[in-house]
Amino acid sequence: MTPAPTRYPAAIVVLHWLLAGMVALALMAGTFSLAELPNSSPDKVGALRGHMIVGIAIGVLMLVRLVVRLRSPLPAHAATGNALLDLLGKAVHRGLYLLVLAMVASGLATAMAAGLPDIVFRGVGALPADFSAYAPRAVHGLAAKILMLLVALHVAGVVVHQFFLKDRLLSRMWFGRR
Ligand code: HEM
Repeated sequence: MTPAPTRYPAAIVVLHWLLAGMVALALMAGTFSLAELPNSSPDKVGALRGHMIVGIAIGVLMLVRLVVRLRSPLPAHAATGNALLDLLGKAVHRGLYLLVLAMVASGLATAMAAGLPDIVFRGVGALPADFSAYAPRAVHGLAAKILMLLVALHVAGVVVHQFFLKDRLLSRMWFGRR
């Protein structure tokens, strides 16, 4: 039996850091700019266009990542020496996949319900007064808060591994000999 690799495959490393940047951007811009901008603002359609393009690109790259993951040998799950923390680590990883996909699905559902593809990409029709009448918009807002919490837990886990356990966890998600 071939031993488990010591690092993630290069394609996963690229996708991990690309998606980390794009998800952070979508979360920050969504919270501090898009949601704050009234639908009556002349800048709103442009802001929605940028957000939707980034959000859909995140969805496509997540699917590519899942396929690459399923077809590649992966390093063993990192261990802390504490069964409960190891379980939390696994749960956070699964949760991150689930929540990012939920963000893409609820964003798309909001956009379809409000007719945004035509308004934003074809210039046909007008934005509703706001999106509060659309149920998927509430899911999108709640999922964003849970995703932020999971990202914070994920980063905290990396800090514990890298600086307290000193097991060089970050090098597994970087380039080098596998
Ligand atoms: C991982 C991908 C995504 C992330 C992280 C994200 C993030 C966010 C955040 C943080 C907000 C503000 C939520 C709030 O404060 O209540 C938001 C709003 C929104 N997002 Fe996304 N989003 C993503 C994907 C998408 C996609 C794919 C679409 C549509 C194709 C979309 C459409 C919208 C819309 C229509 C709003 C409402 C803006 C408003 O209320 O004025 N999002 N998004």
